[in-house]
Amino acid sequence: MCVIRLSERVPTGIDGLDTLIEGGFPRGDVILVAGGSGSGKTIFSTQFIYNGATRYGEKGVYATFEEDSKTLKRNMLRFGFDLEKLEKEGAIKVVDLETLKGGGLSANVEYVLGTLNEINGKRLVIDSLTAFLSACTEKLEYRMLMHLIYRMLKTRGVTTIMTCSVPRGAKTLGLGIEEFIADSLLSLENSIDNLELKTRFLIQKMRGTDHSRRYHNVIVTDKGLQIVPFTIT
Ligand SMILES: Nc1ncnc2c1ncn2[C@@H]1O[C@H](COP(=O)(O)OP(=O)(O)O)[C@@H](O)[C@H]1O
Ligand SMILES: [Mg+2]
Repeated sequence: MCVIRLSERVPTGIDGLDTLIEGGFPRGDVILVAGGSGSGKTIFSTQFIYNGATRYGEKGVYATFEEDSKTLKRNMLRFGFDLEKLEKEGAIKVVDLETLKGGGLSANVEYVLGTLNEINGKRLVIDSLTAFLSACTEKLEYRMLMHLIYRMLKTRGVTTIMTCSVPRGAKTLGLGIEEFIADSLLSLENSIDNLELKTRFLIQKMRGTDHSRRYHNVIVTDKGLQIVPFTIT
């Protein structure tokens, strides 16, 4: 079992974010990134994995359910994130779980955790948790399984982002498990402002962290997503 230093932070390398959260996510935590369609969840998560491998020497696994891995790689290449190259170098692994759905939830979990072990990954993305859990019919099974995954990631010191698709106007995330599974809850919110689509970012919860409590603007350029550190009043 590895020993986790409680104060250790895992930098995201996402422009504007780390300074708002004392340098990064606490190691071994599960971070839920919730937002509507097109709010930037996939770009955000990719940057966490990409920066981990290219800047911080941490290998990562990206489990994709919503887009197939080929589409994900193509879209991310627009920002200069060459996932294919990193995969060939053995620094990351993109796992396409669409094809595994027939095997049920436990087969998917086994596959993801096995891949993490294989490359000794320290970062994990599950995009999205909503789709991942849709393979599960039994509420009890679902809660037990999430508990198990949570404990396992914690002991291995794997820092994980799970994305959550929130339908427009929804008051809750609709997962029913966020209270215990999420050490952190980040939200990306789309809105129309002056006939323009805008996205804002809020840290709703981050255990063990003195974090920003303000809304911040989110912008996407040809270099990816960034959080504008000054606040919206
Ligand atoms: N190359 C690009 N340049 C600028 N903005 C982009 C680019 N690619 C995607 N976007 C913006 O990002 C959005 C998609 O972000 P994504 O992370 O896939 O959202 P989500 O995963 O939350 O559905 C698009 O709807 C678009 O607004
Ligand atoms: Mg997405």
